[in-house]
Amino acid sequence: MLDNNDHSTPDGGTTRRRFMEATGGIGLSAALGGYLASEPVRAKRTSERVRTLVSEMSLREKIGQMTQVAAYEVGDDPTAFFEEYQPGSLMYATTDDPVGLAEDVNELLDASIEAQPHDVPFVFGIDAVHGNNNLDGATIFPHNHGVGATWNEEYARRTAEHTSETLRATGTHWTFSPVADLQRDPRWGRFYEGFSEDPYLSSRMVAEKVRGYERRESGYKAAGATIKHFAGYSEPRHGDDRTPALIPYRTFRHAHLPPFHAGICAGAETVMVNSGSVNGVPAHASKELLQDILRDELGFEGLVVSDWHDFYRMVAVHGFADDVKEAVRLGINAGIDMYMVPAADIESDTVDTYQTYLRELVESGEIPTDRVDDAVANVLAFKEALGLFEDPYADPGRASEVGGGARDLAYEVAADSVTLLQNDGTLPFDPEVGTVLVTGPSADDVANMMGGWTLGWQRVGETLPPAVTPLDGIETAVGDATNVVHEPTGLHEFDNESAVREAASDADAVVAVLGEGPYAEEHGDTDTLELPAAQRELVRTLDSVGTPFAGVIFAGRPRGTDVFDRLPAAVMAYLPGTMGGTAVADAVFGNVNPAGRLPFTWPAGTGQLLNVHNAYPPELFGTGETPPTSTQEPLFPFGHGLSYTEFEYEDLRVDPATIPAERANRRIVTSVRVTNVGSRSGDHVVPVYAHRRGGAIPSPMTEVIGFDRASLDPGESTRVNVRASIAQLATVPGDVFSKDELRVLPGEYAITAGDWEEERTLTVV
Ligand code: BGC
Repeated sequence: MLDNNDHSTPDGGTTRRRFMEATGGIGLSAALGGYLASEPVRAKRTSERVRTLVSEMSLREKIGQMTQVAAYEVGDDPTAFFEEYQPGSLMYATTDDPVGLAEDVNELLDASIEAQPHDVPFVFGIDAVHGNNNLDGATIFPHNHGVGATWNEEYARRTAEHTSETLRATGTHWTFSPVADLQRDPRWGRFYEGFSEDPYLSSRMVAEKVRGYERRESGYKAAGATIKHFAGYSEPRHGDDRTPALIPYRTFRHAHLPPFHAGICAGAETVMVNSGSVNGVPAHASKELLQDILRDELGFEGLVVSDWHDFYRMVAVHGFADDVKEAVRLGINAGIDMYMVPAADIESDTVDTYQTYLRELVESGEIPTDRVDDAVANVLAFKEALGLFEDPYADPGRASEVGGGARDLAYEVAADSVTLLQNDGTLPFDPEVGTVLVTGPSADDVANMMGGWTLGWQRVGETLPPAVTPLDGIETAVGDATNVVHEPTGLHEFDNESAVREAASDADAVVAVLGEGPYAEEHGDTDTLELPAAQRELVRTLDSVGTPFAGVIFAGRPRGTDVFDRLPAAVMAYLPGTMGGTAVADAVFGNVNPAGRLPFTWPAGTGQLLNVHNAYPPELFGTGETPPTSTQEPLFPFGHGLSYTEFEYEDLRVDPATIPAERANRRIVTSVRVTNVGSRSGDHVVPVYAHRRGGAIPSPMTEVIGFDRASLDPGESTRVNVRASIAQLATVPGDVFSKDELRVLPGEYAITAGDWEEERTLTVV
């Protein structure tokens, strides 16, 4: 039996991936290693078992391993299905019965192993992206943009650890998570699935989420992680999902790749490919992306899985291939190891057509057998890493115990994500305030606090996940003497204005919970960041009443523009999941002092896109010197987040102050003294930002290179030491279309910390 804790292969060789895992992810290399230095490309070494299996398997078996189908396609006669197609992977199940799921998967495993000549089990995958979100009763954690706002990657790891525990107990070996796509365009319907617009913050989160899912249990990885969607998926030019992205090489290398690289360094077993096209080429057909960059430069040695029906999309959406057979040829040759051909809903793209095409293409020599062997080895090595050859089964006894745990963790993450956007002193409300009106469309709506990918793709259905809504949370947070009144409104309707007006006049405080309904993928694309008219009207009404009021926003992106002119206080609560209502109530009533910081820029409207914090100069915002024809001042800048207390900074130091360019990955310590000068205890996140001053190739205006946090009582002071590296600022030198290697350029780098404008200089010689 293989000892998968050992970082060497059975041959005694060390694979590059295991080397990277063993030596640590982000610290060494997240944005740097693989593409700053040209790391030697080690030959991939597969285990003896995998090599033997590949050498013994028939073409039919190999094609099977390269196939992933939805479990619901298996039908009533699993044996017949498995004998016919021998799929290497099944995916997808939503259930209210964890024990039943574990038992069903076990039964399917029996049937598939029976049908597979070499007894190879399938690997079962699902989108468990914020908790085991397909399992009724499972605790739902905040979506990733909320986790990003905590600036605490421990949460990414701990939520993933809990998720992988519940996955494995219910027979699920693989989750299609985390999203490593940068979140720079809030029009895009998948904005909330990623962590941040900043490559470094995203990288740290992605790495820990991978480690959490892939924690080791009995020597094997508990579940496989998927970093997706490789690469450039999040920046379709006009904001709509799966439409063409046009990304300059420099931006692609510098900004889009680091989170993927961090995930690879953390050991991610699988990568899912971008469904869109980048610079005119569908990612699924791109050898440059899937071989040259992913394999050769970033050092990925695991399994590359396609996205849903994407060979078909190469024909029907991108018009890149004439027919699906041609797309299969292009895709497999480009480097796809396993095709997600989930359902038989598209006649020209079923498990049957795919397997037939693949066979014909291999037999005609259009797909080399080496490529097939390589793909199958990747699939089998993944199964080996998960221990599936030893024991693929779930223990139904454990399945009954897993649902609903980790609520404290769900609360902590949600509470630490809450970001105080503005406050004229209205918040926090006094728990003994008298009468509180809780209103707005999301005050008591579970679906709106969950977002998409929660017991359903677009929204929760009939059964709701466990949840504390803001109304529930506020009822608990306030004192006995406080009376809570609820007057619901709709996301798009406001037909009870007089009732709301009257209730607000009678109240001593009003909490309006605003925002978006749930959505996923293209259904969430939007051309506006304004809140719907009904909600703006609600805010106008509350404003005209004059009772102290605060807005809370549940949304998958920076949603809301002009409403902030009329909100005395506002908090962003993202899509906080099960414990969101408690987190919001505790923040609004002061049991918790908000410490979240925006992991993205909050634009004043779509006209400002994509003016993110790490765009190239000239700086169009933040200077107060915006060009007269342009209104580029964002509503709230990247990293923004207020507190009920105040923090002051002193004595910023950078050590060392000079480093040689060839040692740019060396740790620098930026330290600053932070004092809580207010009257409440509070947490304070200190991001360290850097940019290169001047030089031939512009440096993005500001980028995060490290961060840490402090917890301070009133009057307390501490020195926050942030270990950072300017390796993140490596750029592609050269002219407009240069494809040079990424390098940290000599020059002066300005370093700042947190909310302070004071700068220190780091000189790279
Ligand atoms: C999404 C992927 C997801 C897959 C499987 C696709 O539509 O783009 O992110 O993992 O479906 O559900």
